[in-house]
Amino acid sequence: MMKTRSTADERGLRTPLSKQRSFSSAPGYSLRGAVFFLVTFIVVLVVLQIQALKRPELLSSSPSPWDVLHQVEHVLAAAGSQATDGGDCGRKLENARSRLRDFITFLPLKNLSLADKAMVGTTWFMSSLNDTFEGEDTEHLHFPSDASQGRLLCIAGNHTNNGTMNFYALAWPDALPRGAVLLPGLTFVSDTYYDYGNLWHGLAAVMPFFRWHLTKNCVLPERWVLYHWGELRTSMGYWVRTLTEIALGQEVRTEDFAAANGRPACFEEAVVFRHNEGVMSPRRKREVYDMLRCKARAFCNFTSSEEDGGTPAAPLIRLTLLLRTGARSFKNESTVIDIFKKACSKFEGCRFTVAWADKLETFCDQVRTLSATDVLVSPHGAQLTNMFFMDQNSSVMEFFPKGWHELAGPGQYVYHWLAGNSGMRHPEAWRDPNGVPCPFPGKDFRCFSQYFKDQQLGHDQAHFANWTATVLSQTKEYKLSQAAVRPHHSVAGCACG
Ligand SMILES: *[C@@H]1O[C@H](CO)[C@@H](O)[C@H](O)[C@H]1NC(C)=O
Ligand SMILES: *[C@@H]1O[C@H](CO)[C@@H](O)[C@H](O)[C@H]1NC(C)=O
Ligand SMILES: *[C@@H]1O[C@H](CO)[C@@H](O)[C@H](O)[C@H]1NC(C)=O
Ligand SMILES: *[C@@H]1O[C@H](CO)[C@@H](O)[C@H](O)[C@H]1NC(C)=O
Ligand SMILES: *[C@@H]1O[C@H](CO)[C@@H](O)[C@H](O)[C@H]1NC(C)=O
Ligand SMILES: *[C@@H]1O[C@H](CO)[C@@H](O)[C@H](O)[C@H]1NC(C)=O
Ligand SMILES: *[C@@H]1O[C@H](CO)[C@@H](O)[C@H](O)[C@H]1NC(C)=O
Ligand SMILES: *[C@@H]1O[C@H](CO)[C@@H](O)[C@H](O)[C@H]1NC(C)=O
Repeated sequence: MMKTRSTADERGLRTPLSKQRSFSSAPGYSLRGAVFFLVTFIVVLVVLQIQALKRPELLSSSPSPWDVLHQVEHVLAAAGSQATDGGDCGRKLENARSRLRDFITFLPLKNLSLADKAMVGTTWFMSSLNDTFEGEDTEHLHFPSDASQGRLLCIAGNHTNNGTMNFYALAWPDALPRGAVLLPGLTFVSDTYYDYGNLWHGLAAVMPFFRWHLTKNCVLPERWVLYHWGELRTSMGYWVRTLTEIALGQEVRTEDFAAANGRPACFEEAVVFRHNEGVMSPRRKREVYDMLRCKARAFCNFTSSEEDGGTPAAPLIRLTLLLRTGARSFKNESTVIDIFKKACSKFEGCRFTVAWADKLETFCDQVRTLSATDVLVSPHGAQLTNMFFMDQNSSVMEFFPKGWHELAGPGQYVYHWLAGNSGMRHPEAWRDPNGVPCPFPGKDFRCFSQYFKDQQLGHDQAHFANWTATVLSQTKEYKLSQAAVRPHHSVAGCACG
């Protein structure tokens, strides 16, 4: 029950840190401060002891409160006996504090023994710590908090290509690791299995932080600490960074730990998300997307052109064909453009726009184009991440090359999910029945990765025309019913605006 956690593994991995601990120690404390510290510390330990008796699960935390209690008794006994033989009490107490610092255990940020379930449960990132669940939000770690027993998060982790060489520890504010740098304010710490570059992956990683901002009185971080597999990352892709800056209304400052100069950094307050969106409920996600849409449109000076056209009987329906070049583009682009243009022109109130994803260079080009869209027609790809800039209840028509259905796994449904979570309609997708031949037999994954994944799309004129007509009539019906209940656009400001 009172097992100690210093496996041979951990001992080995802690060695590099003991070197770092020999950096100049934290500033000295006054005698009064030291006494106050010890009294506080003992009170905390008594409380912990009581909690541990009530909640046996605390006993296996690292280091266990029992272990620490035992050690502290030892330290206090030593300090007490030294004090009675007339020594400098302040110095002895400082000595006691100094020994307390040595109980801090640094563990590797990435636990390789959990590689097969990297994103499951406590994940392989900070694997000794259990998540806290709050309402319908993503599971998180918060420091200091009751769950951390008032301890701060400390990280010694600037390695960019091996997460097992980065370390974390928990420490009480009064006994930080030797030489540690205390970074003030709130720090957002993220670990993602994917990346911060791709629109879709990056969005999944930053969503829970936007939610935190939204629910915690619009708090803002002083800095971001980004990890991928426990490896430090210091940049986000352009789209992800711009969205983040607009969502929070401040520049993204990523920490590279250069100022810490190899010493551990402890955070005055930190929140860690390591499950991307995790268990955040669709309802909560929608609230975040609503905030993002509102703030992005305001930032990009988008004003709705809804009043520009349409009549009470035939409302304006804006259909946008968003094309890709290269991977998953249409083989016969001009024909595809004609099909949708014709289908739109046959429908009263429909206004057709064609755009190329790679020509929407700035973030605001993308926001404005999608904000002015009711029906988005586009092949599967990251450009679809922009769909949440459309008004709620807009529609998405997505196109997949042959082979995706059989071989791409659940990841192919990300834009169905995004539509569901951001309040869009995405009832069906088109799957090309024809494709490139694959030389491997059966459902060999190499067929997908080497042949099918990025192949070009054909078209089906009759089906596309029919499908478009169906979506346009649904959109019209929906717009008419909305006009009846909600005649005016709300002009309320954005959440956390
Ligand atoms: C985390 O939760 C598991 C399962 O409930 C428990 O066995 C373990 O002791 C907990 N660890 C910590 C650090 O609280
Ligand atoms: C890694 O995870 C395993 C399995 O949960 C655990 O037994 C071990 O203590 C962890 N190691 C570290 C260094 O956190
Ligand atoms: C990462 O570092 C560990 C030591 O912490 C080492 O055992 C391992 O081989 C390294 N992995 C890579 C891919 O370099
Ligand atoms: C980490 O910090 C140490 C000390 O400043 C430095 O020597 C090392 O090059 C840094 N490593 C990386 C990968 O930036
Ligand atoms: C929005 O309009 C303001 C005021 O006209 C202007 O300063 C700003 O640059 C515009 N922003 C964008 C992204 O176009
Ligand atoms: C595209 O389709 C049209 C009409 O179906 C056809 O005339 C044209 O040759 C095709 N172009 C290409 C490049 O296949
Ligand atoms: C979207 O449609 C649903 C169901 O038709 C409706 O309840 C909801 O109010 C609509 N949302 C908006 C923002 O119009
Ligand atoms: C679409 O095709 C179906 C038959 O496949 C037909 O019943 C329906 O009327 C068509 N819809 C439109 C809008 O043309």
